[in-house]
Amino acid sequence: MIPSERFFLIAHAADFPEPDAPRFRRDLALEVRNGKITGLLRPEQVPPDIPAMDLRPAWIMPGFVDLHTHPVQHRVRGRAGLPLLPWLERYVFPEEKRFEDLSYAEIVFREAFARMLGHGTTLVAGLLSAHPDVLDVAFEVVKETGLRAILGWVWMEEPEDFARPVEEMISFARRQIAFWHGREDRFFFAVAPRFALSCSPGCLAAAGNLAREEGVFVHTHISENPDEIREVLRRFHASSYSEVYDRAGLLTDRTFLAHGVYLWARELDLVRERRSVVVHCPTANDFLHSGRLPRQSLRARGIRTALGSDVGAGWTFNMLHVIRHAYLVEREPLHRLFYDATRGGALAASMDRLGLVESGFFADFVVLRGGEGTEEELLSLWVFEEERSPVVGVMVNGRWLAHEAAV
Ligand code: GUN
Ligand code: ZN
Repeated sequence: MIPSERFFLIAHAADFPEPDAPRFRRDLALEVRNGKITGLLRPEQVPPDIPAMDLRPAWIMPGFVDLHTHPVQHRVRGRAGLPLLPWLERYVFPEEKRFEDLSYAEIVFREAFARMLGHGTTLVAGLLSAHPDVLDVAFEVVKETGLRAILGWVWMEEPEDFARPVEEMISFARRQIAFWHGREDRFFFAVAPRFALSCSPGCLAAAGNLAREEGVFVHTHISENPDEIREVLRRFHASSYSEVYDRAGLLTDRTFLAHGVYLWARELDLVRERRSVVVHCPTANDFLHSGRLPRQSLRARGIRTALGSDVGAGWTFNMLHVIRHAYLVEREPLHRLFYDATRGGALAASMDRLGLVESGFFADFVVLRGGEGTEEELLSLWVFEEERSPVVGVMVNGRWLAHEAAV
């Protein structure tokens, strides 16, 4: 722990300014002041009177960005055997009902956010249960744990025992947005209609209006499973899933659309025009046998994408495992997946001062164990090493939040 406001970290640095331009720099001295990177020097240039910590042979990388997960499903991760809709009924809704009890919520949030941080996630977009007041509890835990988070409680009119009047949801949300959104560059609010099947057209439209008026994020699910899509088209008399959201004004350039496995060609054009982000959740898609997102083709069409752990359909918050699974699904080069999990994720969240090791950026890092081999081989080591975690430290805003003495 280095308590001073100004200090140096000496390490190797890996970051990903573009999808296909990984950057590996050895022996950097990063000057950190008041939570930001304020200079990059050679180690021998560090002034002797300023505290410095030499992390070598470890590497510094921008902290991981997880743009779709459910902290409230932490305790029901890995419940195998059912497809999406029966899985929600059997495991997820009963567990989320328990969050009426805010002391239960606090316990689970402590476990979930600590877990994320330990795996090197420094920015997360999380969906909570349908109880508006869990958001305040979650942000208080995030505040203590130290990450950055974009959170929203899910808007649900069904099942009935989650329902609440739309007017009440709006007034709750407005109060919370005024208090939390943008606070300390760390707490952000998302309007989160859970998915089309949990809301009426009026509820979706109210959510869309609110997001536009307040300029906050939208976070939802789309086109994850064929039975889900069939039911959406039937209920909303729509010709596509994305049309349902577009009618409600929910497709914005701050919208995270989880899954999107079955988006049709003309829907992809619409999503591109609206500049919404499709969040690829490869572990969850395989876990529920939902299908596989043709992510490279989305990328080729110019659609903004990011990565998400989607716990509890995904069985881990660990973004290195999400990268691993994405690699197995499509064999994209690892550096491109690291881009998505760092700089790409930050840009998808419109946070342009996050995700690079550069002067003027927030000092949000994961520190990874060094190893033998070329630099691209190191990426493999970090992703496929099974026996022990390569994460040895995590810093947000220039503060160590997790740190192994052995660094
Ligand atoms: N669709 C609506 N709710 C959920 C959820 O909690 N998890 C997943 N994977 N899909 C959803
Ligand atoms: Zn999800």
